Amino acid sequence: MTRIFSGAQPTGNLHLGNYLGAIRNWVRLQKEHDDCIFCVVDQHAITVWQDPQDLTRATRELTAAYIAAGIDPVKSILFNQSMVPAHAQLAWVFNCVARIGWLNRMTQFKDKAGKNRENASVGLYVYPNLMAADILVYKATHVPVGEDQKQHLELTRDIAVKFNNDFGAEIFPVPEPLILGEATRVMSLRDGAKKMSKSDPSDYSRINMTDDADTISQKLRKAKTDPEPLPETVDGLAGRPEADNLVTIFAAMSDRTRADVLAEVGGIQFSDFKQRLTDLMVSVLGPINAEMKRLLADPAEIDRVLRSGAERANAVAEPILQEVHRAVGFYRP
Ligand code: TYM
Repeated sequence: MTRIFSGAQPTGNLHLGNYLGAIRNWVRLQKEHDDCIFCVVDQHAITVWQDPQDLTRATRELTAAYIAAGIDPVKSILFNQSMVPAHAQLAWVFNCVARIGWLNRMTQFKDKAGKNRENASVGLYVYPNLMAADILVYKATHVPVGEDQKQHLELTRDIAVKFNNDFGAEIFPVPEPLILGEATRVMSLRDGAKKMSKSDPSDYSRINMTDDADTISQKLRKAKTDPEPLPETVDGLAGRPEADNLVTIFAAMSDRTRADVLAEVGGIQFSDFKQRLTDLMVSVLGPINAEMKRLLADPAEIDRVLRSGAERANAVAEPILQEVHRAVGFYRP
């Protein structure tokens, strides 16, 4: 059996990296697989301070973005994490399975906590255990994510194996990461060595899903490049991280390979290439943007989707949680 699970945090600034590295692939997988579950991980979001009103707004916005990008909430299950208590309940069990040494190796915690680690929330530290619970509470087998989540997925696999060993039961599958497409790690538009991220202080570093055509055009015009024309082959992108990033984005947005794109645009100047990329981006993101606006104008529809999604998610998760509780030996008189 194949069951797909993935999620993203409602922390504002949903960007092109989230779209190309994750959501666009989810839409493709949804066409081929009947059993897909997509989650808005609001409990992960509060591992760093979120203004409560912003969190509520961002939860609806992210839900709208999923639907506008092509997630079908009737075919797939779409819900927000905090509506399904089994995630937090299983996360507690996993807090007792995962080892401190495993969490100490997580590079994302080190990056996010920064220098003042003593002041980071305990939630940020055990974040990967909640992520493992998200996946395993549905016994999901495949998890489509961007490159940056690979280490968290490895931890999820370690937790599944250790739980099965500790309790002598083959309860959990060992889930596979699916890191798909050309754009598994979209880089900043200002610095080809840095990942495109929600938390970069410069809005010019990323394309947001809500950017209009003028903003996209302006950001791409200002995007960092080098003075050479585009190379004819992929080898020619070596040592040119900004050029590589823009070509990768072009390839992912047009469902082609970088080699295929370079066969067409090799030798042209960046000014010309940036104009073509703007046109492509506006043609892909424009309709998504318009549909998001339409959905957000009447949040009742989004709220209905989330309520029904949570009900369906609960119905899958609850019996699996009971199975775990029995395996652990929790008494149910
Ligand atoms: P989040 O919210 O940071 O990102 C959502 C998805 O977008 C991908 N992504 C990128 N892909 C390519 N290039 C980039 N620059 C880029 N930035 C982000 C991420 O890899 C991710 O797939 N911990 C997760 C959310 C989560 C989750 C889960 C995912 C919680 N529980 C269970 C899968 C399964 C996160 O913070 O994603």
